[in-house]
Amino acid sequence: MERKIALVTGGSRGLGRDIAINLAKKGLDVIITYNSNNKAAEEVILEIIKLGQKCKAFQLDTTCVSTFDAFFENVTSYLKNNYGNPNFDYLINNAGTGLYVPFMETTEKQFDEMCNIHLKGVYFLTQRAVPFMNNEGGIINISSGLARFTLPKSSAYAAMKGGIDVFTRYVAKELAHKKIRANSVAPGAIATDFGGGENKTNEQKRQLISAATALGRVGEPEDIGAIVAFLCTDDAKWINGQRIEASGGVFL
Ligand SMILES: NC(=O)c1ccc[n+]([C@@H]2O[C@H](COP(=O)([O-])OP(=O)(O)OC[C@H]3O[C@@H](n4cnc5c(N)ncnc54)[C@H](OP(=O)(O)O)[C@@H]3O)[C@@H](O)[C@H]2O)c1
Repeated sequence: MERKIALVTGGSRGLGRDIAINLAKKGLDVIITYNSNNKAAEEVILEIIKLGQKCKAFQLDTTCVSTFDAFFENVTSYLKNNYGNPNFDYLINNAGTGLYVPFMETTEKQFDEMCNIHLKGVYFLTQRAVPFMNNEGGIINISSGLARFTLPKSSAYAAMKGGIDVFTRYVAKELAHKKIRANSVAPGAIATDFGGGENKTNEQKRQLISAATALGRVGEPEDIGAIVAFLCTDDAKWINGQRIEASGGVFL
């Protein structure tokens, strides 16, 4: 059977790392990107090689649209050299940073940063990726539970994630001629370094989230990766244009 290849942005840490590892467990080869943490990316590569799959890391700042063409030149020449053609199968738009600021205090600069990383970057990276994506592949955009419910200080961030859910439906429709499926996965609060690591270290917040969650705890990266990996298999071939929340049932 032909090997499938997935590209995961922000695959060096947190959710992206767990997604990359779970993709490898399902037999996919993986390309990850990192922004500044090359060492963390190298560790993910070693884990994936141990699982018997190929993995390669590229530096990418997903806020910097002007670099995307050069990025895909690098990625596609790697693919040509290693697989004989420049195409891949799945794109997972995961890279992102957090911002916790009340609406009335959010600056234009902070708003633009959220837009650039969570909406504009995802939009144009996907646009540049599609010509190199095989038919019957897929796109998974990482959204957030915060696009459905509200918690304080997340208006700019959550507005972009809401945009991603809408964008996902448009992509599902407009790429249907290539049989490329597009879905968003919306995690609840997950204990990663995101937003200064609040979900790991802020006990008050952890208790609030746990109390509001049917399954009674804060999420871990391991709660998410396998869901995204499942969407990158033929078993998920009829799931398209959907927003799938993975939050243990928070604010039901
Ligand atoms: N954690 C949560 O509670 C939660 C909940 C819902 C949704 N999400 C979403 O899940 C995604 C991953 O978050 P996470 O919790 O895994 O965060 P994380 O642990 O902080 O990891 C962030 C990842 O994104 C990369 N990154 C950061 N800035 C970047 C940039 N400008 N360009 C390219 N890559 C960049 C980082 O690369 P380096 O390693 O090089 O820094 C790292 O790989 C984000 O889209 C986030 O909004 C998170």
